[in-house]
Order: sequence, then C-alpha cells, then structure tokens
Amino acid sequence: MRLSQRMDKLPPYLFVEISRKIAEKKAKGEEVISFGIGDPDIPTPPRIINRLCQAAQEPENHRYPETEGLPELRRAIATWYQQRFNVSLDADKEVLPLVGAKEGIVHLALCFIDPGDLALVPDPGYPPYSRGTMLAGGSPYYVPLREENGFLPDLEAIPDDILKQAKLLWLNYPNNPTGAIANLEFFQRVVDWARRYEIAVCHDAAYTEVAFEGYQPPSFMQAEGAKEVGVEFHSLSKGYNMTGWRIGMMVGNAAMVDALSRVKSNLDSGIPQAIQYAAVEALTGPQDSIREQNARYQRRRDLVIDKLKSMGLGVTPPKGGLYIWARVPQGYTSVEFTDDLLEQVGVVVTPGVGYGENGEGYVRLSLTIPDASLVKGLSRLAEWRDRKAGLGKTRAYLT
Ligand SMILES: Cc1ncc(COP(=O)(O)O)c(C=O)c1O
Repeated sequence: MRLSQRMDKLPPYLFVEISRKIAEKKAKGEEVISFGIGDPDIPTPPRIINRLCQAAQEPENHRYPETEGLPELRRAIATWYQQRFNVSLDADKEVLPLVGAKEGIVHLALCFIDPGDLALVPDPGYPPYSRGTMLAGGSPYYVPLREENGFLPDLEAIPDDILKQAKLLWLNYPNNPTGAIANLEFFQRVVDWARRYEIAVCHDAAYTEVAFEGYQPPSFMQAEGAKEVGVEFHSLSKGYNMTGWRIGMMVGNAAMVDALSRVKSNLDSGIPQAIQYAAVEALTGPQDSIREQNARYQRRRDLVIDKLKSMGLGVTPPKGGLYIWARVPQGYTSVEFTDDLLEQVGVVVTPGVGYGENGEGYVRLSLTIPDASLVKGLSRLAEWRDRKAGLGKTRAYLT
C-alpha cells in the first residue's frame, strides 16, 4: 500500500495529540480538567432539539438532501444576516449551507488553489486554513498576528512576489486563538487591499455571536464592496451550541458560492434535512439563549482572567470568542508550560505553538468548561502557582 505524498505533509490535527495525553493520564486513574477544545458544554436550546426530533419523523427528510441546502434554510440564513448585520444576501446565489464551517473552509481551497499557489494564512490561526491549502497542493504563507498590532495582520508588509502567487486571504474575528476583534474600518481596508491585489478574502466569523459586555462583533460582509472580493464563513456551532450537529454556512460572493457548491456536489450529498430544519429554527426563533450564555461565558472569563493574573501570566480580557490567550510564565515554552500543568496538577491547556510559530509564548484556555470543573481547574492552577512559589502543597486531588 502506498499513501500519497500529500499524506506525508499532513500533520496530525492539534487536538489528536492533546487527546492522547489526556487518555494516558486517565488510564493512570488521574482526573484531568480540560480547558482544551472549544466545544460548548452548554446544551443546544430545547426549541432546536424539538424541531430536529420532529423533522426526523418526517419521511421526506430520510432521503438524500440537495447540495445547495433547503430553500427554507438559505432564506433563514439571509434573513438572519439582514437582521443581525443589516447585510442583504440573495438566498439563491449568495448563501451556501455547509456541513459545519470547517468543511467549507477546507473544501474552498479546492476551488482556488493549484500546486504552486499560496494562501495567506494567519499565524497563530485555526489550523484548517493551512490544512485545506496543503490538501489542495498549495502552500500556506503565514502572516503573523502580533500582540502589538492587536493581533491584526499587517497586509502592507506582505512582499510583492508573495502577493502575486497568493489567491486567498484567510481572516477570523473574533479570533481563535487570540481572542482579538476587528472593527469595520479594518474590514474596509481589507476590501480595498483585496481589490488592489485581486486576492479573494475568506473571513471566518464563527464566533460573532459569542461576545461580552454588550459588544456586537461586525460581519466582514458589512464592509462596502465585501461581496465583490470575498465570502464569510459562519457556523451554528458556537452561538447555538450545535457543534455535534455539524451545520454552518458560507455567504457572499456569488462566483465563490457557485464554485464551492460545484465541488461539494461531487463530494457530499448535502446536510441531513432534519438538521437543516433545526438550523432554520435556531436562526429564526427567539435569540435570548445567546444573551444568557454570553453572560455565563463572561463570568467564566472573569474568573479565569483573575486566576491567570494571580499566577503572573500576562493576559487581556477578550471582548469576544471562547478563548483566553495568555502569555506563559518566563522560562517556559508553550509546550513546556502545557506539559507542566498537565503533569503537576492535571490541567489541560493548549500550547500556542500548535496554532503557528507566532503562537509560541502563549497558551489558550477555552471557556467551554462546566462551572464546577472550571472552579476545580482554577484551584488547581492556584495550586501550581503556590507550588512554584515554594509553598509545596499536596497533590491529594490527583489520586
Ligand atoms: C475559527 C473557527 N472556525 C470554524 C470552526 C468550526 O466550526 P464548525 O463547527 O461549524 O465546523 C471553529 C471551531 O472551533 C473555529 O475555531
């Protein structure tokens, strides 16, 4: 058996390695508290599950769905964009439902990237932007996101020869992993830049519904001319706690929507219709659950920030997204600090370097951890701090 050369280049997905380390600990009978993956612990709102169960009973939903999704869902997405962002979309030409945003993100590369092409990918960044590029035979060109620039890319610093080979620019705000946000003025500058260099923009807006202190993250599609130059990926995973149902969407430029739809019609056979009806309910029903869960995440955010500060870690409270991006203590790399926390106090955080070399020096903590585990995890972090300060408490909780 001979696997493709492509497989040699494909690194394992970040969380596979972390899951392995957790499993090792658990096999030794140790309890592990994980601030790792960003998978909401809060259940999908009952109204959405009820609609799913109802739709699952209907025989017409047992058959192959259409690639382009149910017209009801495309219309619900367009209406939601109108109400939430004041953005008008043609539900037939500018909206494409996806099997989760990740699916579309990876497959879009097949529409643009030929061997030798580049995609401009944020570093640190969500790994599928680069993985999709690699699977399509191209290469990622990493654009650093630096703290001193508010973790926004400096597009003017990208060399001309790179711009000539680049076909796509990936952006994501509120940002995973840094928690940074972007305003409309930044998006407008991106549109102007993209027009100048004829590079298609893909904004990943998976976290716009998770935000704090009344902040409402904007959509890239609100920038004037955004539809001419690009698309936005969105997801029902985080706003409606539907990671397990696998549903998201791409909206914007009609030619890009058409291209991805053509690729997908050859790849998957659509999204199970019962899940599409659940998504219609999510987008069109009462939206109070979002406010309530954001209040919950905000409380968790504040508790985590206080604890990290007390450990001497540099950290800024994020305005949106599900993550805290903290500087590791002096003398550690991000992997050393992560391993030390797991080894010493059974706490999992994600090493920043897993998101790119500019993530070195940071760790990411996810707020999608049940309150009781969060409290336990925070007391273990305090334990780590005290131990490092030489107070040397016992490790009774690990046994
Ligand atoms: C930036 C970003 N985009 C997209 C996704 C995935 O969304 P979906 O569950 O819709 O595939 C994630 C998941 O963690 C993410 O962090």
